[in-house]
Amino acid sequence: MLDSRLRDEMVFYATTGDYSDAPRYEKFALDCKLDEKGAEIGRMVHFLLRLMSHLPEPIQILETASATGLTAAGVKAQLTYARIDNVYTSLDIEPNLLEYARARDRGDRFVQSDFERLPFANDMFDVYIMMAAEGYRPRGTFYSEVHRVLRPRGFYVMPQIGPHPYVGIEEKYAVLRAGLCIAQAEDYLIAQKSENFTLG
Ligand SMILES: C[S@@+](CC[C@H](N)C(=O)[O-])C[C@H]1O[C@@H](n2cnc3c(N)ncnc32)[C@H](O)[C@@H]1O
Repeated sequence: MLDSRLRDEMVFYATTGDYSDAPRYEKFALDCKLDEKGAEIGRMVHFLLRLMSHLPEPIQILETASATGLTAAGVKAQLTYARIDNVYTSLDIEPNLLEYARARDRGDRFVQSDFERLPFANDMFDVYIMMAAEGYRPRGTFYSEVHRVLRPRGFYVMPQIGPHPYVGIEEKYAVLRAGLCIAQAEDYLIAQKSENFTLG
């Protein structure tokens, strides 16, 4: 049962989309235990990296809709523990959130931009993470951008949160239409950029 303050905050973010107050969002995210989720995502990323036959050094990780950096903190802690050299790029459209994360060293590079128009060259990242911003993609270019910036064999990782944490059918179609292969689509959507995959 959600307490009424947490429910009010959920309604606020769902109806306004206003993430400009970084301390307020951090409190909300901690109340939702997104720090624990960040640690779990770190373990998932570590598992996926162990499947790669050759680990580039450093591993290039992109997270979009990165907010105050709780996922970045969890992933970087896990990779530091595993001694995997990495560069973590955090991208968000809201500058106050990026500044909050930068002040706390939750990530290595901080980029203010739109995840439907990524300011990166092709084939740059080994892992791309995005969580809980599915509702902010009006242009329909999100997955073509994921495909473009991932390196061949790179992984897209989208953890599911909320009351029904399962990947919907439309999301799976959008991933496949962009030319990504789905490895898992349950409480995590894991997809891979494969050199030869085409749909239909
Ligand atoms: C519900 S929060 C999720 C943040 C974070 N992934 C988490 O789980 O705490 C949504 C985030 O999406 C960001 N956002 C919204 N539209 C965006 C866009 N077009 N490009 C990049 N980030 C965007 C917001 O600034 C906010 O940080």
